[in-house]
Amino acid sequence: MSIYTLAIETSCDETSAAVLQDGRTVVSNVISSQVPIHRKFGGVVPEVASRHHIEQIMPVIDQALVDANLTLDDMDHIGVTYGPGLVGALLVGVSAAKALSFAKDIPLIGVHHMEGHIFANFLLHPELEPPFLCLVVSGGHTIIVHVTDYESFQVLGQTRDDAAGEAFDKIARVLGYPYPGGPHIDALAKEGNPDAIEFPRPLLEKGNFDFSFSGLKSSVLNYINGKQQKGESICHEDVAASFQKAITDVLVDKMKEAAHTLGETKIALAGGVSANSGLQRDLQAMCEAEGLTYLTAGSMLATDNAAMIGCRAYYMAQAGKFSNYTLNAKPSIPLGSDLWKGNQHG
Ligand code: KG4
Ligand code: ZN
Repeated sequence: MSIYTLAIETSCDETSAAVLQDGRTVVSNVISSQVPIHRKFGGVVPEVASRHHIEQIMPVIDQALVDANLTLDDMDHIGVTYGPGLVGALLVGVSAAKALSFAKDIPLIGVHHMEGHIFANFLLHPELEPPFLCLVVSGGHTIIVHVTDYESFQVLGQTRDDAAGEAFDKIARVLGYPYPGGPHIDALAKEGNPDAIEFPRPLLEKGNFDFSFSGLKSSVLNYINGKQQKGESICHEDVAASFQKAITDVLVDKMKEAAHTLGETKIALAGGVSANSGLQRDLQAMCEAEGLTYLTAGSMLATDNAAMIGCRAYYMAQAGKFSNYTLNAKPSIPLGSDLWKGNQHG
């Protein structure tokens, strides 16, 4: 008998619901994006996001069930992102999941959004088993995680200031491209020269797996401002290619060092920035040169989606990690936290 997971994701600007069969088969994955709505503001407006989640949540869940040709009665558990993210946005998903769970007596599972991103790799690679090393790069996070089994995640390093995606978005905005900027920088970089402009590579000390991108971001912004003040033209393609190469060099270098330090041979990418073609290419090249196995990232499951949340929920169910009805939306949660339990933290 198959185990069916209904998954819900509303942490930022995508309202998403999915149905999974036995944790690794995506039966349906509906994503209603608010990107066009937030674009005119240059970024996600939390209050606007919450309102749109409220409008979309039930139709999106219904659609996921219709696409799967199943009903709520077929679901064995409901997994929902409870953080980190925008608290008002998260609340919509958590409230919907709790209501359906209570009304239909279906066990509830609170899922950490970044653990969901990591688990997207299990959907992309049906044969993948822990351990592996994962670089999680999104709009809000940049983390190197050692996934030692389905329930243990060791954070080796993370950003001390800006997340990688944040830097991509900021530089794109200053160059005049709409939110989210990452895909625009990616497209421009393909036409530019990565060696045209020397931007800093903030590697920090050896043996330290933390990142810092605010200096790199400022350096790119100073370059753009300097050119504008002098009335000189800016080659967007070269700026994009040089910036992308600088950030990618840092990420790839840290992953190489982390792999050697731990003796880990499998390398994965996760999070929205994992859709970046330059990062994928350079990480793959490093893995080939170092004799490591590179787990291909897939653009479809890179950005926010409920399927990855469903995969994580399935493994939490296997481990007996069910939430009670005090589960609450949490804007920030460390990886591996037990706040999914609800109880006194609710
Ligand atoms: O994981 P995600 O969908 O949402 C968060 O949890 O933050 O990541 C969104 C981030 C944005 O900063 C967006 O610009 C970036 O992922 N992104 C990219 C690309 N596609 C999305 N950054 C660089 N290159 C891309 N191709
Ligand atoms: Zn995300």
